[in-house]
Amino acid sequence: MFCIKVNQGKFESRKVNYMYNKDCELDLNRIEVPESEVERQYYYIAKCREYVKSIEEELGHKPTFCVQTFGCQMNARDSEKLVGILEQIGYEEIEDEHADFVIYNTCTVRENANNKVYGRLGYLSNYKKKHPHMKIALCGCMMQEPNVVEKIRKSYRFVNLVFGTHNIYKFAELLHRSFESDSMIVDIWKDTDKIVEDLPIKRKFSFKSGVNIMFGCNNFCSYCIVPYVRGRERSRKPEDIIREIKGLVADGVCEGMLLGQNVNSYGKNLEHPMTFAELLREINKIEGLKRIRFMTSHPKDLSDELIYAMRDCEKVCKHMHLPLQSGSSRILKIMNRHYDKEQYLEIVRKLKKEIPDIAITTDIIVGFPGETTEDFMETMDVVKQVEYDSAFTFIYSKRTGTPAAAMENQVPEEEVKPHFDMLLKEVSAISSKKAMQLEGKTMPVLVEEMNTQDATLVTGRLDNNAVVHFPGTKEMIGNIYNVTLEECKGFYYLGKVKEDE
Ligand code: SAH
Ligand code: SF4
Ligand code: F3S
Repeated sequence: MFCIKVNQGKFESRKVNYMYNKDCELDLNRIEVPESEVERQYYYIAKCREYVKSIEEELGHKPTFCVQTFGCQMNARDSEKLVGILEQIGYEEIEDEHADFVIYNTCTVRENANNKVYGRLGYLSNYKKKHPHMKIALCGCMMQEPNVVEKIRKSYRFVNLVFGTHNIYKFAELLHRSFESDSMIVDIWKDTDKIVEDLPIKRKFSFKSGVNIMFGCNNFCSYCIVPYVRGRERSRKPEDIIREIKGLVADGVCEGMLLGQNVNSYGKNLEHPMTFAELLREINKIEGLKRIRFMTSHPKDLSDELIYAMRDCEKVCKHMHLPLQSGSSRILKIMNRHYDKEQYLEIVRKLKKEIPDIAITTDIIVGFPGETTEDFMETMDVVKQVEYDSAFTFIYSKRTGTPAAAMENQVPEEEVKPHFDMLLKEVSAISSKKAMQLEGKTMPVLVEEMNTQDATLVTGRLDNNAVVHFPGTKEMIGNIYNVTLEECKGFYYLGKVKEDE
């Protein structure tokens, strides 16, 4: 065993026996690879550091890296894990892709996400020809698709390392293998039930952080590839989540975003089952934490208990992201969503009754196989009734391997486009109207940072995530103020702290 001082700083890491410390004089070759997964990874972090040191000597400067993240907040959080490890092994982060090590953390939820990655790889291929020492890694959801990996093996042979979503915690170990080999290392797992805690993480923002509460998805909505690439649903233990959030708070975080594909089914498969509402109430007790957000809530599992927890817990933002996908009960059934139009509207009614100032946002897909104008008008009807504060609208994208991809009645793009445009117009009109309604109101704003354009202003966010700029100083960062929203500028507000604050 080797010595054990912890390199804490900005890293969220717990003291574990094999933590790397640059003051440790150790002969790594004499140490057997530890058995416990987390210690094993710290062992490889230490091993990688040796390689990075020699690269630094060769280059005459600290080697640089750039992690490009595609897709959702899960991927963003995963990227923070990659960055945490890369910094611990001695790389330095830079913003652009002219780095010594480029990593693409990919998304495959829609076809255009994949196309973006191939486009960028084309560019990197040329760049690497001029900089042969450069390393390229691909990971994330797209890599869980066998046809993608096959294509990369065949046509993108300059890539050094390919891994997936289930073994991301093994990044240091895989990187070490890649340092030891000249050929492409590919390691993809079909699924896992493992959750490895306590590896290094480097946050993108100092004041807020995503927190995984669960991984994977069991819902198999018929259009969606996520369950195939993220595996089966598994929840983290509440004590691990709470320990992580307390650590984050101690490190200056005031807002936590609880992440899961369907947070409403949290805890069902735990040894001691717990509901998401119970978890929220526990997290609400954490001292020093100011705001709690979560996403995503699947309507089929949204309980009254959750609505009451949101109503009662003062730290939980009064914002619900509640994907509708379609307003047509017929389409919802084929989508395998397990709710119909009426049930969805009923949830919205309950939410508005218990939490009158709640902000509701959504995701909508246009052009699902077999969707008629009549079905689409049902979606428009829900949009008008709910009056979403904002909505993400997507054109249906056929994902190979999903049940919807095999449906024969795919809707041609020229039929989808007019519907999509009509929806977008309606959604924007409603969100501008909703945004304008807040003008003149006084609302709590959590100050996140100094304004980047004007040093006399601070920038913060409302419960509904809208941005507010108002006069202030850096001492205000991390605190909540009641701010009068004097002017709505579309997507943001200009305000002033209420006089008696
Ligand atoms: N777990 C979340 C969504 C994750 S994917 C939930 O259930 O709401 C984010 C959004 O991408 C989905 O809500 C859906 O609107 C959209 N999406 C997923 N698959 C898609 C596809 N094949 N085509 C178009 N949009 C899709
Ligand atoms: Fe995809 Fe449905 Fe799972 Fe969301 S709940 S990730 S839309 S399968
Ligand atoms: Fe994309 Fe994977 Fe998220 S497919 S949306 S990055 S879970």
